[in-house]
Amino acid sequence: MSVKIIPVDKSNIFNWRKSVRTVFGDIPDDDVVKRMVRDRFMIDFDNWNEPSDRLLAAMDTKTGQIVGTGGADQYVLTVPGGNTIGMAGIMGMGTLPTHKRKGIFSSVINKLHSQAKERGDVIAGLWASQSLLYTRFGYGLSTLREDWTINTNHTNLLKQKRESIRFELVDKEKALIEIPKIYDTFRKCQNGATDRTEGYWNYILYEDDSAKYNKSGNCGFFFVLAYKDNKPSGYAIYNFNKESGVAHEDDKGTLDVQEIISTDKETNIALWHYIFGIELVEEIKINQRAPSDPLYLMLENPRKLKRETIDGLWVRIVDPIKMLEKRKYNSEGNITICIAGQNQKDIEGTYSIETDGTNTEVKKVNKKPDISMKASDLSSIYFGAVSPGEYFQAGNLEIENQNSLIELSKMFFVQQAPWCNTDF
Ligand SMILES: CC(C)(COP(=O)(O)OP(=O)(O)OC[C@H]1O[C@@H](n2cnc3c(N)ncnc32)[C@H](O)[C@@H]1OP(=O)(O)O)[C@@H](O)C(=O)NCCC(=O)NCCS
Repeated sequence: MSVKIIPVDKSNIFNWRKSVRTVFGDIPDDDVVKRMVRDRFMIDFDNWNEPSDRLLAAMDTKTGQIVGTGGADQYVLTVPGGNTIGMAGIMGMGTLPTHKRKGIFSSVINKLHSQAKERGDVIAGLWASQSLLYTRFGYGLSTLREDWTINTNHTNLLKQKRESIRFELVDKEKALIEIPKIYDTFRKCQNGATDRTEGYWNYILYEDDSAKYNKSGNCGFFFVLAYKDNKPSGYAIYNFNKESGVAHEDDKGTLDVQEIISTDKETNIALWHYIFGIELVEEIKINQRAPSDPLYLMLENPRKLKRETIDGLWVRIVDPIKMLEKRKYNSEGNITICIAGQNQKDIEGTYSIETDGTNTEVKKVNKKPDISMKASDLSSIYFGAVSPGEYFQAGNLEIENQNSLIELSKMFFVQQAPWCNTDF
């Protein structure tokens, strides 16, 4: 068997997408693929002449069939302290069952990493369908996510002094103008958050008429904007699960909140009051919240908030020097870290970090390190999802002496825990 990695263009995009979706158990129709090209990749399908420099296919040279796939969207991601770095958003990774375990996935992801490096991306990031797959390629747990179910029959929000936040239910047209602006203000201040293009918004909020007007399953989206001092300061996107019944007080109505974002604390509290105030609902579900989210502390009966914590965004370092120089540190310091052990030759080595907290100089050096760790663990420690002490207890860090661990913990401590709620 011989397999060749080829670019994806207008002629093979349908087969590329068919191959991706085959491993996830569905077959996309052509209109859905065209919408993806238009919205997600922001390519004008009718005038698409050049191959994409972001999508790859592995072709079986004997049959011409696309047997493996991968791609990289472009994002910028906020790092501790508020700077941003370029991220290749790895997506569409799959190998057909007929061609498994022959190294196709490895070839595709390695090529995506080298393309990201050539483009000047500082990291690659992804959401994993299987959490055991990516550590071997240097990906670390950079944000955690919580999926929540709240039984509102048995808990409510603690009474709070309510600031004067005004709400407005808006249609999708207005939502698509206002919500991206609010999100953009939020994400620039949130460690671990990414930007979202206009295409991305269209893509995730797309509803065909059967979804929008249906009376079973989930209904169409509702959009509520929050205003503080008459300026937009937050929003919620939600829909009702009609199967649960929301027409009668004896039904067990479920409200699916797609997203709540606010730019300040008062708006966040007020938006939760709005959500809890929706009637004929006994259960609220919301996914991809931050483990540090304050809602748990805002409930009369916190146990009624069921939290499932799993991995969120995985990050793989592409340019260690740029990445380490871009974040702000909690304190001045000087430490030498060796990244080793995952056979990621393009990034492994020893790096000295010297910082006054804001200005940082990082150099690749040839000297004995204070600490050795895997690239995946550094990605995680960098954003603060997991502390150096936790990795040390897990047996993942080799330290020269206890002071090195104290110095690392002090420097890399983050004031704001990371949160990424942009899935791709
Ligand atoms: C996961 C998947 C992409 C792997 O593709 P593949 O071409 O068979 O992978 P490779 O042959 O390049 O294997 C790469 C490494 O991962 C390991 N690996 C691959 N799939 C694995 C799995 N499901 N469980 C454990 N290890 C796995 C291989 O053993 C290999 O390790 P090695 O280098 O130490 O030998 C493929 O099985 C698939 O499409 N699965 C369903 C979709 C999916 O989960 N995609 C990931 C999207 S986030």
